[in-house]
Amino acid sequence: MNRGQSCLERLFYPIDSGEFLAKFWPSRPLLWRGALDRIGLPYLTQLTDLKAILAMSRGPVKGWNQAGSVNSSPERALGLYETGHALYVPRIDRYLPELGEFLRPLERELGVPRHSAHCSIFAAAANSVIPMHFDMDFGFNILLRGRKIWKLAPNEHVLNPLVSHDTSRPGPDLQPYVKETLPQTMPKNCSTDEAGPGDVYFLPRGYWHETKAVEDCIALEFAVTPGTWLDVVLDEIRAKLLLRVDWRESVLGVRGTPTTICHTFESLREMLAGISEDINTMTAEDLVARANHVPRDFSPLTWFRRNPDKAMTVEIPEIRGRSQSVVKVFGHEDGLFVSDITEESASLCRRISEEPGPFTLGGLLDELDLEPQTIVQVIGALEEIGAIIRCDSTTTYTGEIADAAQA
Ligand SMILES: [Fe+2]
Repeated sequence: MNRGQSCLERLFYPIDSGEFLAKFWPSRPLLWRGALDRIGLPYLTQLTDLKAILAMSRGPVKGWNQAGSVNSSPERALGLYETGHALYVPRIDRYLPELGEFLRPLERELGVPRHSAHCSIFAAAANSVIPMHFDMDFGFNILLRGRKIWKLAPNEHVLNPLVSHDTSRPGPDLQPYVKETLPQTMPKNCSTDEAGPGDVYFLPRGYWHETKAVEDCIALEFAVTPGTWLDVVLDEIRAKLLLRVDWRESVLGVRGTPTTICHTFESLREMLAGISEDINTMTAEDLVARANHVPRDFSPLTWFRRNPDKAMTVEIPEIRGRSQSVVKVFGHEDGLFVSDITEESASLCRRISEEPGPFTLGGLLDELDLEPQTIVQVIGALEEIGAIIRCDSTTTYTGEIADAAQA
């Protein structure tokens, strides 16, 4: 195992990330076999002990068998497991933050928004079956212990499901866009494979699958839920309409006399006429920025550079008994700008002060494990005091910016 490899290469070596992205992601499943240590996550061995996993978990644990599912406390979950329930321990990355060292780069390699990948644990006793279902997320399921039979089949009944679906409990959530009756059993020609410790299954979103544990099994799943463009465009429309006082009106006048309702119709027709202007001015760049949780003025692709006319230092002096981070920017006109910032922001300022070439907000988001909002605030503050300047990509996307883009 080489820690310099990408996450995808560590999962699927010797398939490299380019080959995985071209041939499998996002719609073709892949079972890849190999020893667990190729993945290079030393704490994976901690996760082969179910008692240790439940001891670190603080949230509800889901247990299910053929009769259905039940939520339980971590303390009671072992009892469920011993009576034949499979267990789902969600968001184990909350209790084992080291997993973020794999999750954040994996998101970048897959090209999905930050913090759209999480880790969960599946534990199943020998002979337990997780019946036919599909999930609304993409799964990278690493078997840590035991042996498991996987049955898989493409989903020809529903594309891009917004919810997961369990055939034992059909719910109403799929009804608006699924008209046919969904099957209850896996098709006869489904693929069947047995996986062992270290093997990884990539499961595309919505793919039918069913598993049976041959031995007691524990699996770690990297689940990727990037959201949908539907969510993004609705968020963008909401952000635009939020600025309009009429759309912030209470929902009044939807029942009552004909006069009242006619008045409501008239008001709504005027408001709807205004929406088309908001929608027509929306751009693809707006939606990508929204998907990356970045305000529109700060597109991830906006280039910045240090202002060559101004020196910049970051200091942490003791002020009134406590440390405060201060950014000082010196210009030609004896200007001195001081800004109180957090320690986290100070490290970002240092990173920018040492940057010799142009950089993008998206690059910083990829490189640093900071909240997007923190990076946006620091970039905005530094631009305001002249420490950094925007590069006009329409006229300067050549030379050193092109070199930086390639790097
Ligand atoms: Fe599943």
